[in-house]
Amino acid sequence: MMIDVRKAAIIGCGFVGASIAFSLMQRGLYSELVLIDSDREKAAGEAMDLSHGLPYAASMQIYAGTYDDTADCSMVILAAGASQKPGETRLDLIGRNTAILRRILPELTGRGFQGILLVVSNPVDVLTYAAWRLSGLPAGQVFGSGTVLDTARLKYLLGQELGVDSRNVHAAILGEHGDSELAVWSSANISSIDLDRFCQLRGRPDRAGLDRIYREVRDSAYEIIRRKGATYYGIAMAVARIAECIVRDERAMLPVSVLLQGQYGLDGLCLSIPAIVGRNGVESVLEIPLDPGERQALLDSAARLKAVIRDAGL
Ligand SMILES: NC(=O)c1ccc[n+]([C@@H]2O[C@H](COP(=O)([O-])OP(=O)(O)OC[C@H]3O[C@@H](n4cnc5c(N)ncnc54)[C@H](O)[C@@H]3O)[C@@H](O)[C@H]2O)c1
Repeated sequence: MMIDVRKAAIIGCGFVGASIAFSLMQRGLYSELVLIDSDREKAAGEAMDLSHGLPYAASMQIYAGTYDDTADCSMVILAAGASQKPGETRLDLIGRNTAILRRILPELTGRGFQGILLVVSNPVDVLTYAAWRLSGLPAGQVFGSGTVLDTARLKYLLGQELGVDSRNVHAAILGEHGDSELAVWSSANISSIDLDRFCQLRGRPDRAGLDRIYREVRDSAYEIIRRKGATYYGIAMAVARIAECIVRDERAMLPVSVLLQGQYGLDGLCLSIPAIVGRNGVESVLEIPLDPGERQALLDSAARLKAVIRDAGL
């Protein structure tokens, strides 16, 4: 079946899936957006509510569909599954969400889906690896939102601290989308001015301040969940950005969760390192320079994820 580049589906229309639909609708990237949820009434209600905003957005169709509607989608976004409750880590979700993934994937592959599968459900790195293994799709077509969200959090907080537009901040969070993620300070810059030099110019923050920002990024989800029960707007914007790179074939660099195939001496897992994302999904995965501390933190993050993958029998 011909892939329709302007058609996408979202599986799982809870807080995250519905917010993704809302952000995608406002970008005007697609002409068809299919909403699928095991609670069909929920998907239908979201489709109605979103569609009522269309006269003030771009022309498109948003409807509650079935897996039959995914066959010609250029992208399927997986946002189904349990989310963290206060005090839970992302890795605590693994049993429940791999079981859901195992039910959903045959529904897609059974219809000959050949597009890009973007995993958002947590723990995103482990589920991305499982989705790649179980779907049989090429590695470049199965990836996770990874630390695209965490990187936005870092850019925002650094921008606030430095009193500069967060879009001028070039810095990334890599590794697990979770407790073992790391901030790459060694190549961070503000519109090409080395971060350390820029901090000197602004008189803040010092190393301790940067560490505090890193911890705030890492622990953001816990803080938001403690206050309002779930996180969804930030991830919705991150997914819309990934979708834009694909539909517009931008070849932008994003820290999506990808299958490692020898980068940093690692393989057999997915985690976030910078990748070039375009029409075909992940087109290359880059082994960017890291300082020794960052490299060790990345290896530690990988070791933790590998242990989880092994224990889960994936
Ligand atoms: N990657 C990220 O950065 C990020 C950020 C926030 C949340 N998340 C994750 O996104 C996922 C969804 O979170 P949420 O807050 O929307 O949860 P939610 O409980 O609000 O929604 C989950 C939805 O999935 C549906 N669902 C469950 N099993 C299904 C199945 N087999 N087929 C189809 N639909 C099914 C449910 O009916 C529900 O509507 C969680 O795993 C959460 O941890 C990821």
